[in-house]
Amino acid sequence: MVQRTFSIIKPDAVKKNAIGEALGYFEKAGLKVVAMKMLHLTKEEAKGFYIVHKERPFYDELTTFMSEGPIVAVVIEGEDAIVRVREIMGATNPAQAAPGTIRAALGANIERNAVHGSDSGQSASFEIPYFFSALEIMNI
Ligand code: CMP
Repeated sequence: MVQRTFSIIKPDAVKKNAIGEALGYFEKAGLKVVAMKMLHLTKEEAKGFYIVHKERPFYDELTTFMSEGPIVAVVIEGEDAIVRVREIMGATNPAQAAPGTIRAALGANIERNAVHGSDSGQSASFEIPYFFSALEIMNI
């Protein structure tokens, strides 16, 4: 099934000049970028995005990190895009990420792990409209 999912190139990867490298993994896998914007989240905006994690011990640190510098938010489209983006990113902890994945190549630790991707259709349905209006998502 063709799906849309949401991904972020996080501040650590943007700072490393690795936006193109990270997006290349998705494109080389045959997935399409159908929406994209660069922005610098406020702490409050990062907290709203990660609201599902608000009870977690890492919530404050995570949202400080996600608002420390610019990010690139994208919508990715393709066959089984939700699970495929997660496979291409690798495990949340870069130390456990399989070779050839984005997080193995670019992640530093479990927090500074280079990329985010929606973990389910339900997450994608919250995350895509958090960043993009329908008019900003292309039919390519
Ligand atoms: P992400 O896919 O963006 O979803 C939630 C984020 O929380 C995750 O990637 C990590 O950046 C971060 N995270 C998850 N677990 C931990 C943890 N144990 N300590 C710090 N950060 C974490």
